[in-house]
Parts: sequence; structure tokens; C-alpha cells
Amino acid sequence: MQENKQKMKGNRTFTMIKPDAVAKSYTTAILKQITDAGFKIVAMKMTQMSRRDAERFYAVHKERPFFDELVEFMSSGPIVAAVLEKENAVEDFRTLIGSTNPAEAAEGTIRKLYAESVGKNAVHGSDSDENAAIEIAFHFAGREIF
Ligand code: CMP
Repeated sequence: MQENKQKMKGNRTFTMIKPDAVAKSYTTAILKQITDAGFKIVAMKMTQMSRRDAERFYAVHKERPFFDELVEFMSSGPIVAAVLEKENAVEDFRTLIGSTNPAEAAEGTIRKLYAESVGKNAVHGSDSDENAAIEIAFHFAGREIF
């Protein structure tokens, strides 16, 4: 158990394909880009967050001016939530998705290709190993992760 936990540290991240990208049918293209980059999908589900879920998920941002907009948008339609496994997963995934604001995202990144604005930015990626573990536990039970 302990050995397994240590092995996983740094190797998992959490992503959501956000309501904008799901609505535009970008899900399969985004998943292909993720797996082509060497990430293994070890858990995945299509789901919709309630307002309360989104408030809890993004609680760290509750003092930000965009919090209401963020909660409204993230609970507005279905998302695809997934757990991804790869060495150095958190950092490599953030490189793959690009800057939060798609206007600043590097060429070829998921947000450059599929996002429309800083709010409707197609995908979420965990910003640290600690937050990845919290976000994974928010969306998935242990038995849903393979
Ligand atoms: P995400 O990686 O899901 O984590 C927090 C989210 O807040 C971020 O992506 C953006 O979608 C959103 N966000 C950040 N800044 C702004 C902003 N200025 N206006 C609206 N949404 C924002």
C-alpha cells in the first residue's frame, strides 16, 4: 500500500474537458491528443457538476472576481472528467494544455486549438501533485481508477 502510494506520487493528474469543448464535440480530438502525448487514461466519466459541486471544486478561487462566472459555466453542461497517468504528469499535462488564456497559449497546445476564452478554456489540469490527489478524490471512487 505504502509502496504503491509512493510509486504514484508525481505520476497522476486530473483533467476535465469543460462544457464548451464537450458541447462543440471536441472530446474525442482532445482525448486523442492526450493519449498521443503519452498519457494513459486510468479513469474517465461523462458527468455534470451541480452549482454546489463547482463551488466546492473551485473553493480556492472563491474570493476571485470571476468565481460566480466560473461556477455558472462549469455547472452549465456535461464535462468529461479523467485521471491521467504518466511520469511527471502534472507538469507535462500543463505544458500540453497551454496557458489558461488561450490567446497566450503556445501553438499546438489544446487550449490554443480548442479554447475560446480564459473562462471557456476547453480543459482543466491540476496545478500540483497535492491538488491532483484532491481533485481525483472529488470525482472518482478508488474502485473507478484502474
Ligand atoms: P482552470 O484551470 O479550470 O482553473 C481555474 C479556472 O478559472 C481557470 O481554468 C479559468 O477557466 C478560470 N479563470 C481564470 N481567470 C479567469 C478570468 N479572468 N475570467 C473567467 N474565468 C477565469
